[in-house]
Amino acid sequence: MTASAWGAPTPAAASPGGYQAGSAIRALQLNDLLEIEKQAAQILPKGGFGYIAGGAGDEWTLRENRAAFERRQIMPRVLTGKGPVDLRTEILGTSIASPVVICPMGGQGLAHVTAEAGMAMGAAAGNTIMTLSTVSTLSMEQVASASSAPKWFQLYLQKDEGVNRELLRRAKAAGYEAIVLTVDSTATGNREADARNQFVFPFPFGNLVSKGTGGDVHALNAAFALKINPKSVEFVIKESGLPVIVKGISSPDDALLAISAGAAAIQVSNHGGRQLDGSPATFTVLPTVAKAVARKVPIIFDSGIRRGQDVFKALASGADIVGLGRPAYYGLALGGWRGVQSVLELLNKELSMVMQLAGTQTVDEAKRTGLV
Ligand code: FNR
Repeated sequence: MTASAWGAPTPAAASPGGYQAGSAIRALQLNDLLEIEKQAAQILPKGGFGYIAGGAGDEWTLRENRAAFERRQIMPRVLTGKGPVDLRTEILGTSIASPVVICPMGGQGLAHVTAEAGMAMGAAAGNTIMTLSTVSTLSMEQVASASSAPKWFQLYLQKDEGVNRELLRRAKAAGYEAIVLTVDSTATGNREADARNQFVFPFPFGNLVSKGTGGDVHALNAAFALKINPKSVEFVIKESGLPVIVKGISSPDDALLAISAGAAAIQVSNHGGRQLDGSPATFTVLPTVAKAVARKVPIIFDSGIRRGQDVFKALASGADIVGLGRPAYYGLALGGWRGVQSVLELLNKELSMVMQLAGTQTVDEAKRTGLV
């Protein structure tokens, strides 16, 4: 599938409610990944923007995800003679341009007419991995046809085991290389912005249309599994035959349970502050989780990454790579696949500069560095 084919409006753009997503395909002039949220707010409908930007409850965890990074510092190392920096790394056998991949995020037709096809193409242009959400606007087969770059499929476990089996079978058949099993969503976070905006999804979810799931996110969530345990992890490993990354871990005990059940990697995440408000920042818990994991499996870290400094600090605290959430969504809204590429380029440029000034040449060296 070519870029121009996915530049055409998708069903998301033609939603019955007249929802107006972004449609520009352009590189972005960005100074940093904090201002991009304000730019996206200017072009997206209020309900869609609130759904993307919002967190749960008082949004304490959402803010804390950022604040926690400010409590640790990077020591400049200026006489190591190191450089130039090499950002390349690998995860589960796949080479990527830098230690940054794109997190699963639902309903990307809210951002742009090309929806997840645009995100997949942006990730491919940045030589990295995109994870496709269960609740995507386009189907996993449509997204697979938009780029041949490596992709992972995120599973929200459903109550109906038959539906789970079918989703996993389709993901494998469509060429997704790993399953990201999200385990922090057995209840929906209390997203007050959505209630205030009376937000309902303006279009159905591509992977679940045959199940008759419309845009009502509450009806959809009613189909989600209410109990997840290590047996669920074993089930997904067995049914998919793919490496399984367990996403949504904050506690070292849960990390060890996931590993004992056979997880190929764990993703330290609090869903970008969208689930349990009052839970600690992921950066706060990362060192303890990393100590428990003791490099038995790789750690992917997300929630709050906005700066090259944040990526470096996560690597220096036990992460192998990081996942980027909202900034990629905003990049898609503002510039389609080119916007996503611009976001990745800026973050990688910042990370390169930080690594150079910290006297570290490779991702492995950054991982061996301590923070102050
Ligand atoms: C998400 N996230 C998410 N996670 C998941 O496993 N499945 C999903 O469908 C979604 N959907 C989703 C929608 C939106 C709009 C956002 C912002 C987030 C969580 C996501 O994968 C990731 O954990 C966070 O976004 C990371 O935090 P930052 O980078 O947004 O701060």
